[in-house]
Amino acid sequence: AKNVGILAIDIYFPPACVQQEALETHDGASKGKYTIGLGQDCMSFCTEVEDVISMSLTVVTSLLEKYEIDPKLVGRLEVGSETVIDKSKSIKTFLMQIFEKYGNTDIEGVDSTNACYGGTAALFNCVNWVESNSWDGRYGLVVCTDSAVYAEGPARPTGGAAAIAMLIGPDAPISFESKLRGSHMSHVYDFYKPNLASEYPVVDGKLSQTCYLMAVDSCYKNFCHKYEKFEGKQFSLSDAEYFVFHSPYNKLVQKSFARLVFNDFLMNSSSVDEVAKEKLGPFATLSGDESYQSRDLEKASQQVAKPLYDQKVQPTTLIPKQVGNMYTASLYAAFASLIHNKNSTLAGKRVILFSYGSGLTATMFSLQLRDSQHPFSLSNIARVMDVDGKLKSRHEVMIYKNLIKYGNVPHVLFWFNIKLNVAMPKT
Ligand code: ACO
Repeated sequence: AKNVGILAIDIYFPPACVQQEALETHDGASKGKYTIGLGQDCMSFCTEVEDVISMSLTVVTSLLEKYEIDPKLVGRLEVGSETVIDKSKSIKTFLMQIFEKYGNTDIEGVDSTNACYGGTAALFNCVNWVESNSWDGRYGLVVCTDSAVYAEGPARPTGGAAAIAMLIGPDAPISFESKLRGSHMSHVYDFYKPNLASEYPVVDGKLSQTCYLMAVDSCYKNFCHKYEKFEGKQFSLSDAEYFVFHSPYNKLVQKSFARLVFNDFLMNSSSVDEVAKEKLGPFATLSGDESYQSRDLEKASQQVAKPLYDQKVQPTTLIPKQVGNMYTASLYAAFASLIHNKNSTLAGKRVILFSYGSGLTATMFSLQLRDSQHPFSLSNIARVMDVDGKLKSRHEVMIYKNLIKYGNVPHVLFWFNIKLNVAMPKT
């Protein structure tokens, strides 16, 4: 099979959301902390009537209907999620309800789990399957579904929820450059869920930020090495049109892209101009560890990277800023934002994606975007996803100050109270 990749995408996020500005006021955080400090605009969340299963059932049904895919033509279904519903039964088996109705039970694949990376593992499994000898000619289907909720505290504004479905096959408008992957995997406790009775993670926020940035550096180095090996020349940021990141919150995406610019500077690549060299020069001799601690480097590299960020990253940030961290769906929601914003000009362009899952597993990989036949065209994917329509039809939940007294109860009850007692949709 040639040009294997993503043929079709659909996305679902819950209609209930809170403005980050309102959350700042509610939490007693300083003005601008969540909106400028974290770079987030709004957060979607599951109310008591939905969860990762209902979201994934919705998004799969919708994808099959809108692209008119015969459910019998799906031969592999892989789910990425870190939201534990059952310790043994996979989310994939819940989704079989859709296919059993059509008499199709011949579908391989189960769930993949490692924090926010499970969706990428699921995607690689499907792409590898279509590229392999065991492929039976049918479609692969990848589903990323998560509800990100944190205990009260600084991590809570980085929650979110969504499900994404991606149809996999040959001659795709979004095709994989399968040899161009750089990974970094390591044993750390930056974010994990040891308490099986709670849906909250245990999170060391600062450590998770540093682990993420170290993984960006390491994956980029490995990616560049593979590129040189297979393409015979040095890779730099100018070799790709867009860079898409797993997006726990937008500020980390800004910092990550600035790290890539700093890496290009250290590798002495031609993509870095004289002004940048001058500004980054003083940091050239920092050790790796020192470079993660240096606020001056962070500032200087973000400043140098800003024009390139606006060009190569900003178009990917819409949904993550509006919906929040969607864990496994987060990277693909960023990619969906790019298709939403730029579908008519993407053909012929290379896009680099960075996937990160705490614990930790991370991969940087490359996609080539191409013209393709309806219904699998970039413009049709944008039309089907209807990102603007979905964002506009959300209802904003108002949070009132007196809710603070509910702060200590588990989040389900917390939102439940908001909904029943003190919340009403904005008219
Ligand atoms: N106006 C503008 N900016 C502000 C304001 C304000 N009033 N107040 C604070 N800020 C800035 C800070 O300067 C900081 O920005 P900087 O990093 O550029 O300096 C930013 O807001 C965050 O503030 P901090 O005090 O540094 O951090 P905080 O205690 O709010 O925690 C954190 C942030 C660690 C991200 C927390 O939300 C968290 O733990 N989230 C979950 C973990 C996470 O997402 N990790 C990322 C990778 S792992 C994953 O994907 C789950």
